[in-house]
Amino acid sequence: MSELKIGKLILNSRVLLSPLAGISDLPFRIINRQFGCRFAFTEMIDASSIKYRKRKKICRLETIPEDKPLGSQLLGWDSKTMLEGALFIQSQGIDLIDVNASCPAKKVIKKKAGAFLMREPEKLKEILKILTKNLEIPVTLKIRIGWDDNNLNAVEIALLAQDCGIDALVIHGRHYRQGHQGPVNYAIIKEVKKRLNIPVIANGGIWCGRDALLMFEQTGCDGIMIARGALGNPWIFKEIESFLKKGTSFVRPDFNMIRDTLVKHLHLLTNKDGVRLGIVKMRKFFRYYLKNIPGRKKIIPLLDKAKSEEEVAELIDTLFD
Ligand SMILES: Cc1cc2nc3c(=O)[nH]c(=O)nc-3n(C[C@H](O)[C@H](O)[C@H](O)COP(=O)(O)O)c2cc1C
Repeated sequence: MSELKIGKLILNSRVLLSPLAGISDLPFRIINRQFGCRFAFTEMIDASSIKYRKRKKICRLETIPEDKPLGSQLLGWDSKTMLEGALFIQSQGIDLIDVNASCPAKKVIKKKAGAFLMREPEKLKEILKILTKNLEIPVTLKIRIGWDDNNLNAVEIALLAQDCGIDALVIHGRHYRQGHQGPVNYAIIKEVKKRLNIPVIANGGIWCGRDALLMFEQTGCDGIMIARGALGNPWIFKEIESFLKKGTSFVRPDFNMIRDTLVKHLHLLTNKDGVRLGIVKMRKFFRYYLKNIPGRKKIIPLLDKAKSEEEVAELIDTLFD
């Protein structure tokens, strides 16, 4: 797939994996990369966690050579704290920093961070200027189309961000009030793309190759970002690549492929965090991988209580017998 240039960073794909809080840890990224994902983000980090060197949060930056190129997303409100956090992230060998102006979570909005920044253009400007001036790695911004139906200010914010020197803009085609539900507004993404000179990466509602093509066609965007479409479905990257090249979908994974990928994902987690915590962390992924598979409702509670990787594999096999 053709390349995407973000500042000095050249990605050899136009399909990126979104930052996903509580999801995008190293094992998740590795599994997705094994199926064609070429650029991923760590889980987002609150700049103040870096300032206070909170070990549990900082270990989100843990990576390995095959987990490259890698971006990290920063959350915050205070520009000096954001810079401190960004410089630390840069010092860890991360290739790109994205500023989060899209998160709708209550606890984030309360701290005036995330999507709240779309209501505070001057503050956002201060943050972006200080980051673009002081960082060597590319800086991007992830926004929404606006706050609500009456405040759709994506074009204004995007132009402001471009003036501040960001290297690319990511836009989720829903507003703050929509959360993660409801239709994606292609028209606003298209308008943003038309008005900017830097790359625009579009996000929202991409579940398959056809959705990916639709996003490119409807908006003229330079790249797309996959979020929930990759949960328990790392094959989406191959599917999109195939659809964009040939107009045909990649053959859906069979039971063996789902089983083997789930077991591999669990193994990566247990290797990193030990068996007990690995299985706890895998709980949400059991549900994603086994979605729509007959018999899963009986098996999932047993998987949640499993004590070893072997037990998980045996339980999964009973589903696929
Ligand atoms: C569990 C979960 C965690 C998310 N965490 C983040 C995050 O940390 N940073 C961010 O910018 N967006 C986050 N998002 C939003 C997604 O990146 C994406 O913008 C959104 O889900 C829309 O894309 P989709 O419709 O393809 O899922 C999260 C979404 C979900 C479902």
